[in-house]
Amino acid sequence: MQSSSAEFTHQTVLRDEVVEFVRKGSGAVVIDATLGLGGHSEAILRSTEFDVIGLDQDAKAVEMAKARLAEFGGRFRAVNTNFEAIADIDAGDGVAAIVADLGVSSMQLDDAARGFSFNAPAELDMRMNRGSGQSAAELLANSTEAEIADILYYYGEERKSRRIARWITERNEAGDPIKTTDDLASLVERAVGRRPGAKIHPATRTFQAIRIAVNRELDVLKAFVPAAIEKLNEGGILAIISFHSLEDRIVKQAFQRLSGKCSCPPRIPKCICGAEKKIEILTKKPIVPSDDEQKKNKRSRSSKLRVARRIGS
Ligand SMILES: C[S@@+](CC[C@H](N)C(=O)[O-])C[C@H]1O[C@@H](n2cnc3c(N)ncnc32)[C@H](O)[C@@H]1O
Repeated sequence: MQSSSAEFTHQTVLRDEVVEFVRKGSGAVVIDATLGLGGHSEAILRSTEFDVIGLDQDAKAVEMAKARLAEFGGRFRAVNTNFEAIADIDAGDGVAAIVADLGVSSMQLDDAARGFSFNAPAELDMRMNRGSGQSAAELLANSTEAEIADILYYYGEERKSRRIARWITERNEAGDPIKTTDDLASLVERAVGRRPGAKIHPATRTFQAIRIAVNRELDVLKAFVPAAIEKLNEGGILAIISFHSLEDRIVKQAFQRLSGKCSCPPRIPKCICGAEKKIEILTKKPIVPSDDEQKKNKRSRSSKLRVARRIGS
């Protein structure tokens, strides 16, 4: 599904697969924890009886989705918040399903002024919520060389993290910190070089890592999964689409723990990892988009859908 405003579009990933799982939930309300331009919300409103509450930390996404979904009247409500606050959402008589389609939308990537992309010169911002936290430029200016190297290594799996961190720190030490996307992209390219024939820009991993750090994406996701399960009715569905291995690993491990699988070393007499049987995992292997979807939407290629059902406590 292509959602659009005058300027921006976003193709909804794994839309029909998500709706089929959402249908299995029982209750009156579905929470779309990553509303974006409202693609999943619209599909749920059109093809099920559920009401939808959409959450997004990006105020612009909320405004655009509200305009798009106005035709559904009282069946749709939007809240401008981070999904880490899901426990506080007033969802009335219980939640049938929760959907999260992680990361940034094409709207955010394509809006040069947001500073997410190395393809367009802009201030280096990268905050999904522009009203809170430090921008990417501030994060780099305020971090030590070791902290920058860790961010690039752990969040970008960037093998040349130390070298890039050194170059960034030299700029900080010279009193000329990086302020723009094009400055950062060209610094990384000069620091690590560009392999002949390489398909991706050498700054791709650096940009991903800094975006994850600026938005605390992995910490927020770790807190979200158990909180979302608590929010669901018995039999309720949690469907999460991730776009890289760091996110997918968090979802997979959280699902295993919540399905009662203990990951403590065998010699520990009593479980300390917090495993407790609260869910049944419905996707033994993650669902990936069809060949057709992958052809039509390049961004869908790395996506993985994992789904769990809350069981009685
Ligand atoms: C991939 S887009 C969702 C697209 C949407 N499913 C659609 O089809 O139009 C992800 C959206 O989630 C939002 N988002 C990401 N992390 C969030 C968080 N922790 N809390 C709230 N919103 C978040 C982003 O601002 C973005 O608008």
